[in-house]
Amino acid sequence: MQHYKTSLADEAATLALGKSFAHCLRAGLIIYLNGDLGAGKTALTRAILHASGYVGTVKSPTYTLAEPYQISVQGNRIKLMHFDLYRLRSPDEFTEAGFRDEINTETICIIEWPDKADGVLPLPDIQIDITILDEGRDVDIRAHTDKGESSLSQLRFAPNL
Ligand SMILES: Nc1ncnc2c1ncn2[C@@H]1O[C@H](COP(=O)(O)OP(=O)(O)OP(=O)(O)O)[C@@H](O)[C@H]1O
Ligand SMILES: [Mg+2]
Repeated sequence: MQHYKTSLADEAATLALGKSFAHCLRAGLIIYLNGDLGAGKTALTRAILHASGYVGTVKSPTYTLAEPYQISVQGNRIKLMHFDLYRLRSPDEFTEAGFRDEINTETICIIEWPDKADGVLPLPDIQIDITILDEGRDVDIRAHTDKGESSLSQLRFAPNL
């Protein structure tokens, strides 16, 4: 499976990666976003949304746990759900909130803190791991499914260019 690694010197680089990654989006894609508090998961998601035609504010869905967006993917209107599961008390709460209905072949799901819903979430098509360094961030992106593989093959990102 594809494995892509890069470093991001500053927030601008994180936003540039998000913009590039937007070209990888496909209906129904499930993306896990891992990394410590403040790693840049929401910053990356914000850049993905803005590059996909969403013009409003993108806030961290800290208390609501999820925020829906309408974006444009290859000319089609698609729903994207941005989850931040940090405050999920148990995996069951994900199911009780009705969130499993959002896991379908149409909706794109970007999920921060997926470990909090361990056992109820399906495996991701793409997993993004962000590591905080003394300066900047390291990012590791890997595909876990054929769908994720073909989507990730569209990534064209060279930092500092
Ligand atoms: N490549 C980078 N190098 C240094 N700082 C960065 C980089 N990318 C983003 N940042 C900064 O890191 C912070 C990221 O905050 P953000 O809310 O996106 O983190 P998060 O991973 O979503 O955290 P949480 O788990 O709390 O939701 C911001 O202050 C942003 O300016
Ligand atoms: Mg966040």
